[in-house]
Amino acid sequence: MGLTIHYNISTQRRLTPAAVRELIAPLRDKSVALGFAEVGEWMEVGPDFPGAWHFPRDTKTAADVLPPQAGWLFYASPGEGSEGVLMGLCRYENVSGWRLQGFCKTQYSSCHGWEHFLKCHRNVIELLWAAEALGLRLKVHDEGELWESGSHAQLRGNLDKYNQCVAAFSGALKDAAGIEKFDLAAAQLARGRYPGVRGVSIGKNFDTPIESAEADYVACLRKVYAHADYIAVNVSSPNTARLRELQGRDGLERIVGALHSERVQLERSHGRHVPLLVKIAPNMDQEQLAALAATLRSLEVEGVIATNTSTDLSSLGADWPDAHRGGLSGAPLHSLSLSVIRQLRSALGPAFPIIGVGGIVSAERALATLNAGANLIQIYTGFAFRGYRLVEEILDALR
Ligand SMILES: Cc1cc2nc3c(=O)[nH]c(=O)nc-3n(C[C@H](O)[C@H](O)[C@H](O)COP(=O)(O)O)c2cc1C
Repeated sequence: MGLTIHYNISTQRRLTPAAVRELIAPLRDKSVALGFAEVGEWMEVGPDFPGAWHFPRDTKTAADVLPPQAGWLFYASPGEGSEGVLMGLCRYENVSGWRLQGFCKTQYSSCHGWEHFLKCHRNVIELLWAAEALGLRLKVHDEGELWESGSHAQLRGNLDKYNQCVAAFSGALKDAAGIEKFDLAAAQLARGRYPGVRGVSIGKNFDTPIESAEADYVACLRKVYAHADYIAVNVSSPNTARLRELQGRDGLERIVGALHSERVQLERSHGRHVPLLVKIAPNMDQEQLAALAATLRSLEVEGVIATNTSTDLSSLGADWPDAHRGGLSGAPLHSLSLSVIRQLRSALGPAFPIIGVGGIVSAERALATLNAGANLIQIYTGFAFRGYRLVEEILDALR
């Protein structure tokens, strides 16, 4: 999902590989002239090249997909955050002429601002316009609609729409519900051999009254204690009715008090101390946040995780369908989450551990979260959409 340019380039002319190479030679020079961040060398490819498969019209299974028999290709990277674009032409068995099918998702270059995104998206479109100008046949589906319209305003509107869509889509996915699913997750955790730090988020069932919620938290703690490195005490998911009420002094004292007592027993039986961190919402005014910080200090929890998703969906616009409304995560959450972390750091002092989370979709934002006062960071929506590449980018920025 998300702001992709799909392209299909072809020429029906009967050309030798050498003639094809000559015909499309200007495209690599064009990429350099346009200022693509990286432009690779021409590659002469054959059937062992995996990136240029052809999907004939009646493709049903992987066996119908054709590898190139021969071709000339190069990769170019439009810029930070954008996928690379593959350019050139290939020949395929029983397919007339030379062609190439490809796509390039540019959406996440918008994590580096509109100007940067515009440059990346426009670069790809300009390169395709240049291919058309060489007499090649182009079929393009541009989700940004710049190809058809040439309009930056239209592109901007589509970018905003897709970014809102990503944020709302992630938020609308509901948390795993019910103790049976929790049992399954706990069993997976017990079997898992993951060598890294394992945090487990615990909460109450949606149908447990808020007044007796502590029993659910304690039950969850017992099930995962042996396998968790820390516990996130989730009192802030917007998907569970009234859950956020537990962020008040009375609620927190009740939940954390019950967890502390249970942990004393668990520590003894398992011979290990598992830290408890309270996970909080971003939708609090200064006064509420100051009161929460005071409660956190008095409760002697080992840290705070800021923040969960936001219930303020105003950035999505009024006509967003109710069915797609959930807690807002991802890019639009970042500034709100940063401001909560800043206030917490100033209220809690320099030594209190804060895990920063919310809208970290680029290395720049990871650094901003750390600079706001977080000791550690977590990524969810950014990871779901950008994967390990985001982790690598953040690690590079931290080196
Ligand atoms: C689909 C989905 C499920 C989530 N489930 C939980 C959860 O079970 N417990 C929790 O503490 N936070 C949960 N969160 C909140 C995330 O941990 C995170 O705080 C939030 O998404 C903001 O980070 P992000 O902008 O990187 O996504 C969930 C978020 C999403 C989008």
